[in-house]
Amino acid sequence: MRMPIFRGMKHWGKIIPAVLLSSLLFAACGGNSPTILNPTGPVAVHEANFFWFILSVATVVFVIVEGLLIWSIIRYRQRPNSPAPRQIHGNNTVEFIWTVVPSLFLFAVLGGTIYTMFNLSNIPSTNASIPEIRVAAVGHQWWWEFDYPNQHVVTADTLYLPRGAVVTMDLLSRNVIHSFWVPSITGKTDVIPGHDNMKVFRADVPGEYRGMCAEYCGTQHAHMNFNVVVLDTNAFNTWLSNEQQKAQTPTDLLALQGQKIFTGTGGCTGCHGIVGVNLTSFDAAKTNSGLSADALVGPNLTHFAERQLISGGVLIASDGHNWANDPACQLVNGQLVNKDSCGLYQWLHAPQAVKPGNDMVIGNLSDSQIYALIAYLQSLK
Ligand code: CUA
Repeated sequence: MRMPIFRGMKHWGKIIPAVLLSSLLFAACGGNSPTILNPTGPVAVHEANFFWFILSVATVVFVIVEGLLIWSIIRYRQRPNSPAPRQIHGNNTVEFIWTVVPSLFLFAVLGGTIYTMFNLSNIPSTNASIPEIRVAAVGHQWWWEFDYPNQHVVTADTLYLPRGAVVTMDLLSRNVIHSFWVPSITGKTDVIPGHDNMKVFRADVPGEYRGMCAEYCGTQHAHMNFNVVVLDTNAFNTWLSNEQQKAQTPTDLLALQGQKIFTGTGGCTGCHGIVGVNLTSFDAAKTNSGLSADALVGPNLTHFAERQLISGGVLIASDGHNWANDPACQLVNGQLVNKDSCGLYQWLHAPQAVKPGNDMVIGNLSDSQIYALIAYLQSLK
């Protein structure tokens, strides 16, 4: 009489469909999800290739090891009345093979790692006419500041890049360790207080990409997202020249009232800067490094109305583009029609309820004061 190899064989009938069905969950991670498997720049391409290389090596190892394991289980399973197997001790040939073969696989991975690292340090421009660009990414708790020191622009939450330009990025933090990651463009690099880091990459395909913090950095680590917008040279220069302007002085009465609250009772200037209002230039708040890491506590708001995200992506303009046109935040006769659907209202009303633990502190403002502030912020195009 033969014994069943696996006594619980009938359970596999339930387990296998469950595993297959759960894989459908991961299949749902399509669309706009950030992925390293859809690279749009040479750094991401090298990293994706390296991923596939390691996966191939690991698959070969897996198939060989599991194959031998299953073969041994079946070939040497216990049978009725089978005698005790021959007892052996030590076999030089076998020990030599299972020492050398894994070493060869590990050397292959080491070789691939070194090859990829050398490739990552040499990122050429796609076109000699596209100048390199230097940007500092500053990790705050919990949002990203982007400082273009040579263009004299500082912004937050969205990183704009010219397509095909070599980007030299300084990575700065003055609080805790963060990690800068844009899966489709470049892998993770730690952002370490007291140890300014840098990386070089290139974004080759115009579009919008998701970036995030990839190192646990406090309670709102999961809300430290940013967008990367890659633009053709002309569009990028248009964006840049708009950003370089100081803030517009509002003509609208409500917005003017909002500006007074910004510089006065709101207490906003304690942390935020607006060029032409409480800052003379984008560089005014910077310290010795020439970069903004030690400067303002909160984001530079000079062109707030043009931003897509605020507060690490916790709030997104409801038209997905900017706060000036956000339909939920349009004031009618100085009032918000439905203040609960306006993220900006919620943020100015109770920032700690929207994102607990963040640095934003604001006095108790009445609704009409908040409406004036919204009108002012929407005028900062
Ligand atoms: Cu910053 Cu996690």
